[in-house]
Amino acid sequence: MYQDLNQKVAVVTGGSKGIGTAISRRFGEEGMKVVINYNSDEKGAQKVVDLIKKHGGDAIAIHADISTEEGVSHLLETAVSEFGRLDVWVNNAGMENKHETKKLTLKDWQRVIDVNLTGTFLGSQKALNHFLDEDKPGSIINISSVHEQIPWPTFAHYSASKGGVKLLTQTMASEYARHHIRVNNIGPGAIKTPINAEKFDDPKQLEETTNMIPMKEIGEPKDVAAAAAWLASNESKYVTGITLFVDGGMTLYPAFMDGKG
Ligand code: BGC
Repeated sequence: MYQDLNQKVAVVTGGSKGIGTAISRRFGEEGMKVVINYNSDEKGAQKVVDLIKKHGGDAIAIHADISTEEGVSHLLETAVSEFGRLDVWVNNAGMENKHETKKLTLKDWQRVIDVNLTGTFLGSQKALNHFLDEDKPGSIINISSVHEQIPWPTFAHYSASKGGVKLLTQTMASEYARHHIRVNNIGPGAIKTPINAEKFDDPKQLEETTNMIPMKEIGEPKDVAAAAAWLASNESKYVTGITLFVDGGMTLYPAFMDGKG
């Protein structure tokens, strides 16, 4: 637990499932007030709100398309009108789909870039301007991926979006460090979430993936949530511009794991 997080206010985009839900719940446990954004899964988001409230926390579910300026404005306005302030903004909403690059349509490319990269830019910019206007420190946390670093064949749009998030994070971090507005990435590896439930329910695909992880196991959403709580808190006050990989070692060139090469 991080004492300084108590009563602070966070926006979490894509909070109705997976990693976004785990982060929202962890923030609730820390005593934070959480604006949980969803795009299609209203029931899922409301369930997270109910769980947080049941455990004594406070949260609200808000519909918004985070790839639009109106969408992110609505989230900031809600944080301020409902809870009186904003301290932490988590750009978690993301999507992925598999296509050979030779067949990747502009439409599929564009939607992934819009949500993963443009949405992260719009959310970060919204939070940044609020922190600057209020002349206060703040923490912006982007959920990137191991694929900001590892190329991922058949996911060119996804990998490009995450590579973009990495440099967006580093650039913003550098630009606003003097204001103590911190911008960091979390880079999850293979985590058991709805986005890849089908993949990991198949024993063959599960084995293929665990073989690429030095720790030999899939991670849990709450492992990512623990990293988000730390990056939100003052305990990380001297940390900006990093990617904190939560990946069981996936980024450590596992092909070389047994001294081969
Ligand atoms: C993707 C997962 C994938 C993992 C490791 C993540 O960014 O969302 O589907 O299993 O990277 O490849």
